[in-house]
Amino acid sequence: MKKQVLITGGTKGIGKAVALSLGKAGYDLILTYASDEDTAKNTREEIRRITQAGIFLLKADITKQASVETICSCLAKNDLSLDAIVFNAGLTRRDSFEDIQMEDWERIFFGNVHFPVFLLQRALPFINKGGSIVFTGSAMGIYPHSASLAYGVTKSAIHSLVKNLVKFLAPYEIRINGIAPGFVDTEWQKEKPLEIRQNIEKKVALGRFCEPEELAEVYKMVIENSYLNGEIIVVDGGYSYK
Ligand SMILES: NC(=O)c1ccc[n+]([C@@H]2O[C@H](COP(=O)([O-])OP(=O)(O)OC[C@H]3O[C@@H](n4cnc5c(N)ncnc54)[C@H](OP(=O)(O)O)[C@@H]3O)[C@@H](O)[C@H]2O)c1
Repeated sequence: MKKQVLITGGTKGIGKAVALSLGKAGYDLILTYASDEDTAKNTREEIRRITQAGIFLLKADITKQASVETICSCLAKNDLSLDAIVFNAGLTRRDSFEDIQMEDWERIFFGNVHFPVFLLQRALPFINKGGSIVFTGSAMGIYPHSASLAYGVTKSAIHSLVKNLVKFLAPYEIRINGIAPGFVDTEWQKEKPLEIRQNIEKKVALGRFCEPEELAEVYKMVIENSYLNGEIIVVDGGYSYK
């Protein structure tokens, strides 16, 4: 039977690259997105052209609690059992400390931390023994920065969540790890002004952004390595070494 993976935010950027890599490796894919249905359908077509993967697309916004049910109902209705989940969708917002509003702070915490915790709780019965969970953290959860306080703090929380969940998931024979990317050339980064991008490149030893495909190779390794558990793998091209 083919392996099946759920990837949140699986239709663009890092999530799409991971989907392509796993699709090529023989996985069927359940890919969620927030609202951009056209891109989601294009991504599905692109992956279908290159791979044999069966693909479910699911609109499931991580800022909405109801999306937990949307995803788990899809798993139940279609009799899906998962070999891996990639908790990848994430939120950020740039505000000065003086301007942060509590509702924005709460929304980012909900989407980045609360949502995956309760999705994982509800999805447990659908995960096979030997399954693998991967969270997308961030180098910005390791090196404090000044762009988005809620982002940095929630990504640190994700790193901690991964380690704290190891013992809860061990009885289910499920491994859990996180990946902390540095700066990856996705839409998320392409929107930044050239000057900011150049400042970032100056801080990375390799002098450039990471390509999503380079990062996707690490996700595949983390999902498939049978002894890796409770680790946060930093993939940042040597950020802060320059
Ligand atoms: N790019 C980087 O440099 C970088 C570095 C470190 C960590 N990360 C992390 O990597 C993850 C993905 O980032 P990316 O750069 O690949 O982003 P991206 O290219 O903008 O792709 C975002 C994906 O997530 C989905 N998404 C966005 N908001 C969502 C929401 N509220 N609910 C459900 N899905 C949502 C998008 O769906 P729609 O198209 O429908 O919006 C899309 O599928 C995030 O957790 C981010 O924090 C990124």
